[in-house]
Amino acid sequence: MPHAKPRQIVIDTDPGIDDAIGILLALASPEFSIRGMTTVAGNIGLETTTRNASRLLAFAGQEDIPVLVGAAAPLSRPGPEPLNLHGKDGIGGVDLLDPVRQPENQSAVEWLADLLLSVPASTVDVLALGPLTNIARLILEKPAAAKRIGRIIAMGGVIHEAGNVGPRSEFNLWADPEAAAVVVPSGLPLVLVPLDVTRRVRATREFAQALRAAGKPLATMVADLIESYFETKTHQESRPLHDPCVMLFALAPELFRLEDLRLTVNTGSSEEAGALTIDEKGKLVQVAMGVEGPAVLDLLAAKLTAI
Ligand code: RIB
Ligand code: CA
Repeated sequence: MPHAKPRQIVIDTDPGIDDAIGILLALASPEFSIRGMTTVAGNIGLETTTRNASRLLAFAGQEDIPVLVGAAAPLSRPGPEPLNLHGKDGIGGVDLLDPVRQPENQSAVEWLADLLLSVPASTVDVLALGPLTNIARLILEKPAAAKRIGRIIAMGGVIHEAGNVGPRSEFNLWADPEAAAVVVPSGLPLVLVPLDVTRRVRATREFAQALRAAGKPLATMVADLIESYFETKTHQESRPLHDPCVMLFALAPELFRLEDLRLTVNTGSSEEAGALTIDEKGKLVQVAMGVEGPAVLDLLAAKLTAI
C-alpha cells in the first residue's frame, strides 16, 4: 500500500532529555513532516531549551526545520527552577555541536498563527512536550488560528497516580497551571498523555545498549541521552520516557487505550497547582490511560535504527 502523506506537525518543547528523545524519534519518522519547533522554558531556561532544539536539528542534519522562540515564563506566575535531572545544559551533557542556523526572528505564537492560517484547517497537529504556555497564548491571542489546529497531543498531567512535583501535580501542568486551564477546557481536539501511561514506557540500560549496538547515529545519540539519565539516578533500573510517548501515540495510537474524561485544572498556589480532577463540570478530553509498553519501545527502537 502506498505510504500515506506525512502528517504535518509542530513540536512545542522544553528540551530536556526526554524531549530530545521524542524529537529524534520524530526526525527519524517519515510519517511526520515537521513544519517547525517552538520552544518554551520549563526543564531549563528558554535560551537553553532553544539552543538544545537547534542543536538536535543540526545533529540530525535537518536544520531546514525552523526553530521559533516562545515563552520565557508562565502566563502569570514565576517559572520553575531548572530541573537537575536534565543536567546543566538541559540534555544530560551529551556531545552535540552548536547549530549553524539561529532561531527565526518571529515569535513562536506569531509564526504558529501564520502557519495555521496558511494551510487547510485541521492539517497541522501540535505535539506538546513542555509547559503549555505557547499554546495557551495562541488560544488567547490568535483564536481564529488556534481553531485550525488538527489535534494537540500533549504530555501532561496525572489522573490516578501520584504526581512528580506534588501529590497530584505533574511538572508540565504544574509549571504553568493557568496555561493548562486555558488549553484543557478550550474545546480544541486534545489528547493528554499523562504520567499514568508514560511511567509504563521505561528505558533500561540494556535498552540503551541495544540501541548503541545498532551503530546508527540517532540511535546512538538516544543511547547517550538515556545513559545520561542514569548518571543522576544511578540507583534506578529504568527511566520513564515521558515525552516520546507523544510521538509514539501519534505513530501508533492502536498501542494506547484512550478514555474520555471530564477534567478541571487546579490553579491554586498550593502544591496542588496543575492537578487534574475528574469533574462532571469539566470539559471532555481524550486521555491515554493504557499503553502496550514493550510494543511502543520496540517501535521506538525500530524507528531510531532504521536510518
Ligand atoms: O513530567 C514530565 C514532563 O516534565 C516532561 O515533559 C519532561 O520533559 C518535563 O518537562
Ligand atoms: Ca518536556
